[in-house]
Amino acid sequence: MAVQINPSILSADFARLAEEAKAVQGADWLHVDVMDNHFVPNLTLGVPVVESLARATDTPLDCHLMIEDPDRWAPRYVEAGASSVTFHVEAAAAPVRLAREIRAKGARASMALKPATPIEPYEDLLPELDMLLIMTVEPGFGGQSFLDIMLPKIRRTRELIGKHGLELWLQVDGGVSAATIERCADAGADVFVAGSAVYGAEDPAAAVQALRTQAET
Ligand code: DX5
Ligand code: ZN
Repeated sequence: MAVQINPSILSADFARLAEEAKAVQGADWLHVDVMDNHFVPNLTLGVPVVESLARATDTPLDCHLMIEDPDRWAPRYVEAGASSVTFHVEAAAAPVRLAREIRAKGARASMALKPATPIEPYEDLLPELDMLLIMTVEPGFGGQSFLDIMLPKIRRTRELIGKHGLELWLQVDGGVSAATIERCADAGADVFVAGSAVYGAEDPAAAVQALRTQAET
């Protein structure tokens, strides 16, 4: 299972996004948190910033939409240059149709679950997806503590992916750091989002490498 490290620019300096994207050379993807002040109590950035960021970096963009009405907006983020688009199942009116639309537009389709959302009702949707995101904090803010109680959900999801013989990536987001990444990897995650653990470090690129080494062991 190849390990991927996706720094979250939520913890970066928003006035210097192009430089901050370059500060994480070696990262697999750049994780872009889109928040609308409705689905979560925080507001970040939207389509125009994603368009500019896509032009400013060669690192592919992994857009995590924490917004209402993703059915309407997610395709716009593919057009803006995102190579992977994640919508929250709690907000989507028609998740299968939406995943198909994201794929048809040429991006990887991904679905996120908040901590209180179980995976079991969505087992049949897994073949429609390229990645599943299990939130390991309540979405909305960087720098929160990792929720250990999510580890069994990560484990069960990995088992379901295996049972169906799927190539689905399993992403974790929230509180992922040197102190928690090994537990996530052990439970079956293979794509790791890290905001404060990367951009809070003195050398963000070195922090990416250190996390990768830890996740691989
Ligand atoms: C939180 C966001 C995360 C956030 C993670 O709602 O989805 O991507 O940036 O930040 P850390 O790694 O600091 O918990
Ligand atoms: Zn995120």
